[in-house]
Amino acid sequence: ETTNAETGTGEGTTTGGSNSLPETVVIGSDIPYRPFEYETTSGELTGFDVDIAKAIFEGELGIGYEFKPTSFDSIIPSLNNNNFRIIMSAMTINEKRAKKVDFSDPYFTAYQTVIVRQDSSISSKQDLKGKNVGVQKGTTGANAAEGLKEEFGGNLNLKKFDQISGAFQALMNGQVDAVINDNTVNAEFVNGKGEGKVRFLEGEGAAAEQGKNAPPYLTLTVEEYGIAFRKDDDEFRKKVNEALAAIRESGKYDEIYSKYFQG
Ligand code: ARG
Repeated sequence: ETTNAETGTGEGTTTGGSNSLPETVVIGSDIPYRPFEYETTSGELTGFDVDIAKAIFEGELGIGYEFKPTSFDSIIPSLNNNNFRIIMSAMTINEKRAKKVDFSDPYFTAYQTVIVRQDSSISSKQDLKGKNVGVQKGTTGANAAEGLKEEFGGNLNLKKFDQISGAFQALMNGQVDAVINDNTVNAEFVNGKGEGKVRFLEGEGAAAEQGKNAPPYLTLTVEEYGIAFRKDDDEFRKKVNEALAAIRESGKYDEIYSKYFQG
């Protein structure tokens, strides 16, 4: 079914192939991951990644785009199996992933953060020792939790959920004591469905140590998001990098940024 893509002669190439500019790019993404990719109450797909995709593909490259919901844990093998052309899923660039995919230039800075219930006795990183910690499978949040577990000599109980919503739910109903996840996604929950019920763990951390503009709560890591491509997709990746630079230059990136984030 990927004949067109493979020969590069057909039209409407979507998921596979190495022809550099498809008519429509199919984007693999784990949804919902609010505010990056989620549905509005009326069922419309929206979010920071979705708006950035629109600006890059429709706005700069003049092609269509389409999001394909995919489990985050298997999203890289799925890309390499030609199920879609690229990944846009608030995905952190790291060495392990870079062995299997190529990343665009970074487009967003994020931090791993910890949230607990409002009335929790947990007030520092050390207090997480012996606790149940919820994460999304296959994420850098899961890696950070594994790191903590090691630091505590194995004395931490990790619960892995297919989607972040499962971890949030488990935090609300007491099944886990904390959730480790990307800062802005945690913030969306703290200020949304979890308002008055959950809070960030306070403290300095990786962000401050690295001299960045640190969020006002504990940060376990500093990370950058990238768009992921197959290793044979260099021409397309270069065009996307150019488009990303163009939307930063034009102010479109900032416009989208301020739609979803303050400051
Ligand atoms: N930034 C984290 C990572 O790369 C979490 C991303 C999860 N994204 C999603 N759409 N569920 O591992």
